[in-house]
Amino acid sequence: MRVTVESGDITKAETQCVVVNLFEGVTAPGGGTGALDRALDGMIAELIASGDIRGKAGELTLLHTFGKIPSPRVLVAGLGKSGEFTVDKVRDLSANVARFMRARRIAGFATITHGAGIAGLDAAACAQAIAEGALLGLYQFDRHKKTDEDAFDVQAMRIVEHDHAKVAALERAAERGVIAADAANFARDLANEPGNVLTPTEFAARAETMAREAGLGCKIFDREETAKMGMSSFLGVAQGSAQPPKFIMLTYHGGGEAKPLGLVGKGITFDTGGISIKPNEGMQEMKGDMSGGGAVIAAMMAIARLKPKVNVTALVPATENMPSGTAIKPTDVLRAMNGKTIEVTNTDAEGRLVLADALCYAVQLDLSPIVDVATLTGAISIALGNVAYGVFSPDDALVGRIEAASQAAGEKCWRLPMFSEYKELNKSQVADVRNSGARGAGSIAAAFFLREFVDDRPWAHLDIAGVDFSDAEKGVQVKGSTGIPVRTLINLVLGLGEQPLT
Ligand code: BES
Ligand code: MN
Ligand code: ZN
Repeated sequence: MRVTVESGDITKAETQCVVVNLFEGVTAPGGGTGALDRALDGMIAELIASGDIRGKAGELTLLHTFGKIPSPRVLVAGLGKSGEFTVDKVRDLSANVARFMRARRIAGFATITHGAGIAGLDAAACAQAIAEGALLGLYQFDRHKKTDEDAFDVQAMRIVEHDHAKVAALERAAERGVIAADAANFARDLANEPGNVLTPTEFAARAETMAREAGLGCKIFDREETAKMGMSSFLGVAQGSAQPPKFIMLTYHGGGEAKPLGLVGKGITFDTGGISIKPNEGMQEMKGDMSGGGAVIAAMMAIARLKPKVNVTALVPATENMPSGTAIKPTDVLRAMNGKTIEVTNTDAEGRLVLADALCYAVQLDLSPIVDVATLTGAISIALGNVAYGVFSPDDALVGRIEAASQAAGEKCWRLPMFSEYKELNKSQVADVRNSGARGAGSIAAAFFLREFVDDRPWAHLDIAGVDFSDAEKGVQVKGSTGIPVRTLINLVLGLGEQPLT
């Protein structure tokens, strides 16, 4: 779908459908909705009076205009209570509207900037949310299905702004929304692919193709190269799989001599658990165990298009976690790139094993700050459900940046503590650390494990295991991969570009 911004009068738009809005409880609509109501001889006000339109959140009312205006249809979108309206709601509303158009086979529509009028939200933020929401909401993963005869694509969304002076700013904002949504949808495509399609080799190939098209640097390290680099922890996980592992590195150069930021993502293309094999129930979700890696790769695509004045390096250790005659066993000891030894007490705690070497390499490359993203622990969804991802970091300033980036993206996060007492959880009798331990505080133990490999650099860990998949269609989310936290990462990098951590 194409997204454009233009100045003009929404009542005069030549389109298949015009979208306006209404807050709950408003009887005399104002702004664009008011102008349209007048052009329709008070039809909207009458439907409000009769109780047919109430402005409830999620309410969508389609009207026919019978030649009163150029557009044959009007969609009135309910915004809910005016005091509770936010940019997140604009994004979700736009997703719902776009899916409504698709269901009604309406190929093109024009919309006002929901939220920018009486709701008083920042107009540019709303334009971005409208573009982002529509593209996220229309996302479908259907490449393995036979072509649906009935399939219908919405071709165009026009954002119509009456104030000509605002158009340029709204255009830039909408473009940012398109770039962010495209990136999140790229991450969704990667995570939705089954494990037999998105092998480590295919994952690396897709990253490489994207990098070439976007103008990013790309280097793929194979088994031999990573062995030479000393990544025995990563290779320990990979040794049980018939698929060759790949270590993916992408680089973006926009900040001269500045130290590059590091984005590190877990890239387990399928997690069976290994010898500590998972039960069948829920194992399907493990095709998405590379979501963290997919998210950092997708964020790099957006960064290449947005061109902030920073340097960024993304690292993704990609492998399957399989049980086999060559697989690592519980009690095996591995040595990470920084020399620390790891007792593998559970082969299903493989994410931290592959991330250990990726974090060591990030330190070796002198990346700062380092932010890793991983579907690391089932425990995080016990703590936070599917509402927010967990943030772990000893660095208050970095956490503040992540929280701001997440809030602006509408991708909720919540910080969990890193009290030093938890460090004990990773104590091993035979090695420097062990990869799993007590029953409690599993997500925090995992964060402390990762911390062993960042050499006290500015670092944060995002555990997205609760939010990487959605089992329902709701607002910007559709069933399957969510693409979280791609838009957080984009905001974070842009923010660090404007104002580095001190
Ligand atoms: N990939 C899983 C975590 C996961 C669970 C992601 C559910 C998404 C949904 C991870 O590799 C894992 O298996 N973690 C173990 C760690 C344990 C063995 C210490 C877990 O959470 O059970
Ligand atoms: Mn696992
Ligand atoms: Zn895993």
